[in-house]
Amino acid sequence: MLDDQRPGTIYWIDHYVVATDDVERWVDFHERVLGAKTILRDGRNLQRQAFQDLAGPCHHGAFRSQPLPVSAGLGKGLPRHGLFIRQEDIEKHLRRLDDCSSPHTDPFQTSAEGDEGIAIRWEDPDGNQFEFWAPDRMPEGGMVGSGPLGIGRISHGVYECRDLQRTADLFNRYCSLEPLSSADVPSDTLVLPLAAGGRIVFKQVETLGRRTCGWGTLNGPHAALVVRDEDFFPNYEKMWAELPDWAWDADRRAFIDGGDHLPARMARHGGPGGSRWYEMRGRGDDWYDWDTNCFHFFGGAPKGGSMADYEPHSMDYFAKLYAQEHALGA
Ligand SMILES: [Fe+2]
Repeated sequence: MLDDQRPGTIYWIDHYVVATDDVERWVDFHERVLGAKTILRDGRNLQRQAFQDLAGPCHHGAFRSQPLPVSAGLGKGLPRHGLFIRQEDIEKHLRRLDDCSSPHTDPFQTSAEGDEGIAIRWEDPDGNQFEFWAPDRMPEGGMVGSGPLGIGRISHGVYECRDLQRTADLFNRYCSLEPLSSADVPSDTLVLPLAAGGRIVFKQVETLGRRTCGWGTLNGPHAALVVRDEDFFPNYEKMWAELPDWAWDADRRAFIDGGDHLPARMARHGGPGGSRWYEMRGRGDDWYDWDTNCFHFFGGAPKGGSMADYEPHSMDYFAKLYAQEHALGA
């Protein structure tokens, strides 16, 4: 745990979502490779989307999107999401990746993305990129709630970026995150260590792939960033005061325009809490960086006085509180 947390800082990545062109296949694959438990597994639900529990409060999901943009391939495509594992389990994880016919790299020692440890990169049948991350020093809480396969919490997300300084400024202003200064991190990489565990990493690229939400063509891909409950609304209020909303066409139920020319912005979140919030306040609780990557905040209440473990609170929770406080009857 970092000692000098600024108000509004990010403690963990709570969840991420990727795109798939076959939700049922995605569910089956990740049940086998991660031991993930599928939430609400029924045929009708799996036509569109699925969520699975990972360790502790962490979960992940996939939304059906067709056609799926071409992936840059194993270890190259972005976004890439990492999950904590223990170093002594590496051989076990390699065998399971092979059993699941998942293309993967050999394990390799690295500190190039801001933390020292051993990485195994792999991909799912949709070409979504993942990494098992076995750090030399496991953060407190990194393996809390892990299941029998030994998969821990989300360790990091790696995203494309065309201007690292612009992105560092955005995350400094709205997420109170400071870039890591390390001789091990190459100049094309920005590492933002999170306060409790894990990292957000940006890689400099010339042009962006299209496996992100900011193009207006894909459903779902985003990551949820955990702030303390008391920072949830202050963080958003700052953004709502300073960033525009991505225009929403209610008749078409689609965003107007889309692409890599749009600025950092807020957007209507498609889930129940986000939709309710948009109706109440007319503002979105998704937000985009300058490079089509989508995020939203997630509240966390420390367990046992520490954010090493937390009680998760979604916008659904906060929107209900807000409605009660303002007698809006939601
Ligand atoms: Fe989310």
